[in-house]
Amino acid sequence: MDPHVFVLFGATGDLAALKLFPALYRVSQRDGAPPPAVIGVGRSDWDDTTLQDAAVDALTEADVDEGEAREWAESALRYARVEAYDQLGPVFETAEALEAERGLDGNRVYYLALPPSTFPGTITALGEYEEDRGTVGEHVPDDAPWVRLVIEKPFGHDLASAQELNRIVHEHFPENAVYRIDHFLGKETVQNLLVFRFANAFFESAWSRRDVERVEITVAETNDAAGRAGYFDGVGTMRDMIQNHLTQLFSLTAMEPPARLDAEGIRREKIKVLRSTRTARSNETVLGQYGPGAGHDEGYRDHEGVPEDSRTDTFAAVRLHLDNWRWQGVPFVLRTGKRMAERLTEIAVVFRRPPITLFQASGGCDPERNVLRLRLQPNEGFTLSFDVKTPGDGFGVSTRELSFRYEDTFGPFPDAYETLLRDVAEGDPTLFVHAEEAEEAWRIYHAVLDNTDIEVHPYESGGWGPDAAGRLVEAPPPEESGEPVADC
Ligand code: BG6
Repeated sequence: MDPHVFVLFGATGDLAALKLFPALYRVSQRDGAPPPAVIGVGRSDWDDTTLQDAAVDALTEADVDEGEAREWAESALRYARVEAYDQLGPVFETAEALEAERGLDGNRVYYLALPPSTFPGTITALGEYEEDRGTVGEHVPDDAPWVRLVIEKPFGHDLASAQELNRIVHEHFPENAVYRIDHFLGKETVQNLLVFRFANAFFESAWSRRDVERVEITVAETNDAAGRAGYFDGVGTMRDMIQNHLTQLFSLTAMEPPARLDAEGIRREKIKVLRSTRTARSNETVLGQYGPGAGHDEGYRDHEGVPEDSRTDTFAAVRLHLDNWRWQGVPFVLRTGKRMAERLTEIAVVFRRPPITLFQASGGCDPERNVLRLRLQPNEGFTLSFDVKTPGDGFGVSTRELSFRYEDTFGPFPDAYETLLRDVAEGDPTLFVHAEEAEEAWRIYHAVLDNTDIEVHPYESGGWGPDAAGRLVEAPPPEESGEPVADC
């Protein structure tokens, strides 16, 4: 990890306090990490001390000892106040002064945790400055310092805006200097999907239309959008969760084995999946918005800043279809919502039933399908359901589970942001979103975004979302699937 200055735009915001300061602290505690040099940038009237105090609060919230937090904050953090995010003079002056003071070579990370409307202006201002510094552009000498640009989500709000943003980014920065963040990719269990699939030959051989009936990707959250109306209203769950986090889980589940386990190999396969995915249709999309329920008196429309007639989706489910050899005819159902009954992220691979039914489950029903559940949070691990003979006369069948839980075997995981910030510092873009991936993911949803023909169903807080979503995961009728009947 080369010594560098980390410039954090949006240092006074929620993401910085909740995730980025704790992650920066933990990365700097790793073996071989250089002393941290972080410039927090904001428009608020703060100074170095205000920023350091805010970071100490954030670190102690994240269980760091207060004395250590203070020592870290005072040695690592400087504040640069700007009038606007495209007038960056104070940022560059502070960076140059810090580099001179510490004898640094000029390597920099620019991390944009900013409102997306400011991205074009900030990126242009950074690009022009870096061109003058000779770190990007046509003739960059081999010994020039490196510059990495990290862009928080949302990357655009539809296909056209994502294309425009990519154009602005590429006007100044080469793709290999750009790190588009989707923090789900930093989660250990999400990366484990690759190991689970490609290190275990027996699952991989069943991982196709021949054996899989459908795949369900679920991210249920118990949190809500209160206090975030300024960002969330008008954005909604399709944009906030489906287009990025759930689509990443989808492409990792559906992709082919990469030729090599590096950024190019993995991202190339993910892009192929997205390219083979049909555009989502309105009759296979279900949207919802939570009302009161489960002890919450307020529904979404009662939150401060949300218009009374808001159509913003706090729940979204969509059934996707791939046109490729492996997955032709296998639906992938992606669904996620806020204020749900419990917090749960899982990928359920539902296998086909045997071609003929020799046994009956107790009660006279056909045996269940085998389901492999990869549980990403909480209780990370997996379970595989299978049928066994119920002891006694005859061939009664009942369903049981094989299961594995990470915490029984391994200690706690690093936080996703810690993993991703370490990768940025080391220059490894494998767990970041490529320009083409971002655009393809918008392309898939373009017909269902802002589509007023799609009803937004009210649902009760503390449940599982609108009933209408259930039909997306119903198995096809037996006459269509050609499977045995007697399900109950
Ligand atoms: C964010 C979304 O990107 O991810 C939030 O903006 C969502 O709405 C969050 O709650 C979920 O992330 P995690 O890591 O808490 O599962």
